[in-house]
Amino acid sequence: MEYNELIQKALECREFAYVPYSNFKVGAAVLMDDDSVYTGCNIENASYGATNCAERTAIFKAVSEGRRDIKAIAIVGDKENYTAPCGICRQVIQEFAKEDTDIILAKDKNDYIIKKMKEILPEAFSKNNLIK
Ligand code: THU
Repeated sequence: MEYNELIQKALECREFAYVPYSNFKVGAAVLMDDDSVYTGCNIENASYGATNCAERTAIFKAVSEGRRDIKAIAIVGDKENYTAPCGICRQVIQEFAKEDTDIILAKDKNDYIIKKMKEILPEAFSKNNLIK
């Protein structure tokens, strides 16, 4: 799948964001190794702490349907900036990603930058990277 199509799916899901507290909508679309795509939006909560980010919504949908390996993830916040995943989402992405997995930060369908997993979470905690 072309990355602009993946971004389009993230943009469509972004419209479902439930953001009464921040008013900041985020959409994500995760491309899995079997080429299936799962989308997610941020879902806020009155407690604030129970808010779920768009990336985690998408990944939890994929994993709960039996998919495990992320090929790429596209994230769209507002159109003025590239929205980078928060720390918790970086840790959740890397659980199901590889070091060279593409993290696509998009302002729009044809306006995006690509980061690698290892760039956005170097020296990540994982069961394969225990420092002895
Ligand atoms: N948010 C995401 O959905 N993904 C991120 O990676 C950054 C933050 C959401 C959480 C909250 O609903 C809103 O953006 C403002 O922080």
